[in-house]
Amino acid sequence: MSSVVVVGAQWGDEGKGKVVDICTEAADMVVRYAGGPNAGHTLVVNGAKLIVRLIPSGILHEKTACILGQGMAIDPATLVGELDELDRRNVRYAGRLFASDKAHVITPYHVLIDTLREAGPDAIGTTKRGVGPCYEDKAARRGVRLGDLRDATKLRHLIGAAVAAWSPVIRALGDEPPEVEAVVTSLLSLVPRLTPLIADTAPMVQGAVRAEKNVLFEGAQGALLDIDFGTYPFVTSSHSVAGGACVGSGVGPSQIDFCLGLVKAYCTRVGGGPFPTELVDDAGDHLRNVGQEYGSVTGRPRRTGWLDLPALRYAVRVNGIDAIALTKIDVLSGMKELKVCVRYRVNGTETDEFPIDDLATAIPVYENLATWTDDISAIRDRSRLPAAVQKYIEFIEKNVECAVTLISVGPSRDETIGTSGIFDSIDV
Ligand code: IMP
Repeated sequence: MSSVVVVGAQWGDEGKGKVVDICTEAADMVVRYAGGPNAGHTLVVNGAKLIVRLIPSGILHEKTACILGQGMAIDPATLVGELDELDRRNVRYAGRLFASDKAHVITPYHVLIDTLREAGPDAIGTTKRGVGPCYEDKAARRGVRLGDLRDATKLRHLIGAAVAAWSPVIRALGDEPPEVEAVVTSLLSLVPRLTPLIADTAPMVQGAVRAEKNVLFEGAQGALLDIDFGTYPFVTSSHSVAGGACVGSGVGPSQIDFCLGLVKAYCTRVGGGPFPTELVDDAGDHLRNVGQEYGSVTGRPRRTGWLDLPALRYAVRVNGIDAIALTKIDVLSGMKELKVCVRYRVNGTETDEFPIDDLATAIPVYENLATWTDDISAIRDRSRLPAAVQKYIEFIEKNVECAVTLISVGPSRDETIGTSGIFDSIDV
């Protein structure tokens, strides 16, 4: 097996950082294909924490090539900030970190528009990183691409046109449009740092896949935040589902061998939008406090709730998930009760489907499962888990018809049962 996509199966924050890090050990190349600085995960470098939003965690493995694919929205200032942090920690990236010349650039006016909108009545709880407005420019065919930074004349023209298009919007939101020249100057000042990274990355990814290298496509956010398959309009503006790996990096569907779906043992969501299994009680607080459910980019407390199996079945289908990596099951230890949503009641009728168009009125139907109190973080063998934990996992497998091949029982890398078995060199 050589090319694998790792994708979040819920509303993001399923614990991708750790699982991708485990899988990356055997990867020759890690490719991010969607989203931008709205994502974030924490890396530990020589004992010190580093939060990266754009650069894949594979950067810590010296032999792994890291690609920011053309499906991404890249804020050059954030990227340079991450390069500075890597420099400070003596992590070498020259010649193995590349960003697509066709990835779109998040400019200061994108961040301004995102922030102004979030202060108004149409707020949906974005990360305010300018991701949505950047993709709006991409779809409107007036975006600035990373490769455009190398041509000052073209850049000035593109920024001028975009600022002119956005000016009425910015004024209507109560602010003043930025000076075109100030935006151009600030972007050009970053070019010397970025030039060595900017490349046509699709042939690099295609070459690695053709050579049967181990290529890991790292998803951002989660399936339920996908622009097409998520809980629209409370979604991000990119293709976070596994299919995004193709359009966001330049390979065809037949070149992806396997899809590993990341599933948190309960649900969380940041920002607005429907969340039928949400808990606003002590159980929800337990999940937030024990699970440390605070956004790594914004620090916002995450909304928490019971596991939603219809949503998971939906995610398995739209991503083509082959196996599940189940994370944070240790957080459920000590819960006074344990419920799982098994189906929905919509207008008086029960359905096994995730009623994505009726979530405002759909009523979750729960099943109670046995609780446990044991600390399971030291267990490394699935058969040694307490019976209630094994039942919880089997219940998921049976209901979504997908095997759980990796179980994370704590935040650190070794607190893991099984490996995903995704690359041949990983022991299954
Ligand atoms: P945006 O991607 O910043 O435009 O935000 C759109 C929606 O996606 C909001 O509900 C955000 O909270 C959510 N979102 C974006 N990125 C992430 C992420 O990495 N984890 C979880 N939620 C995210």
